Amino acid sequence: MKDLVINGTEKGKLERRSVPVVNIADVEREALKRIPKHSLDYYRSGAGDEITLAENCLAFNHLRIRPRFLRDMSTRVTATTVLGIPVAFPVLVAPTAMQRMATPLGEVANALACEAEGTIMTLSTISTSSLEEVAHATPNSPKFFQLYIYRDRELTRRLVKRAERAGYRALVLTVDTPFFGQRYADERNHFKLDAHLKMANFEEEDKEASERINRVEANLKSGSSGLAEYANSLFDPSITWDDIAWLKSITSLPIVAKGVLTREDALKALETGCSAILVSNHGGRQLDTVPATVSVAQFE
Ligand code: LAC
Repeated sequence: MKDLVINGTEKGKLERRSVPVVNIADVEREALKRIPKHSLDYYRSGAGDEITLAENCLAFNHLRIRPRFLRDMSTRVTATTVLGIPVAFPVLVAPTAMQRMATPLGEVANALACEAEGTIMTLSTISTSSLEEVAHATPNSPKFFQLYIYRDRELTRRLVKRAERAGYRALVLTVDTPFFGQRYADERNHFKLDAHLKMANFEEEDKEASERINRVEANLKSGSSGLAEYANSLFDPSITWDDIAWLKSITSLPIVAKGVLTREDALKALETGCSAILVSNHGGRQLDTVPATVSVAQFE
């Protein structure tokens, strides 16, 4: 019970209606209360008419478990390995961009949570905490680094080298973003990064690129999203599977091809020397009307 004073008027003793957070739906409910609209819209939107975004949830909800019983369940082990790295359970954290829009420590908080739970965090190139900062905050847990290949290959090479130096254990190369998904919510909001935040991976080494990158607003045409402007002007749309060889020539880290949705591309990843694929439709944020990730993974 708590005394509440609303607009200076004593409203008496009201029962506190705080609902404990116990599942993902609760986390979403709390986020809806706390995060500013333009950030929430960025996090929750998909590309185009969001057909794939909706399909991702539908297909997942239609998965059915086929249980087998009487198999001595007195000991249950969820631990496994991913690329030879032990994890406490087979769920990893995918890269998502600009997490300080949601919470002050952003990616650092996420990495600390992964460390506490014994799983692997994948840090986005487009993070609001630098890759060194995240590595420094969580020295005891393995982490992956998600990579976009920039038109500026030297900039890309420096990012890769920094990820290696900071101890990241794999590069998760996004293959599904030759052009940025069209997200109407971001266009309506003229999405840009909040003034107190920065694309933290681009400060240290490349002042010029950093300034260009951080000035998303300057790139902003009316009716468009600053991040789309950023990505379309800086990510290299000409990359092909042959560029895996280039990446392998500058790093000994394992490469995970992220965004694979077909058997043909899975084979390409294998042929070109990727160590793994990450089957993903980018949360429905890239090409709309591609299948739900979970259906591809199950049936292809
Ligand atoms: C996105 C990019 C940054 O989906 O991966 O917003």
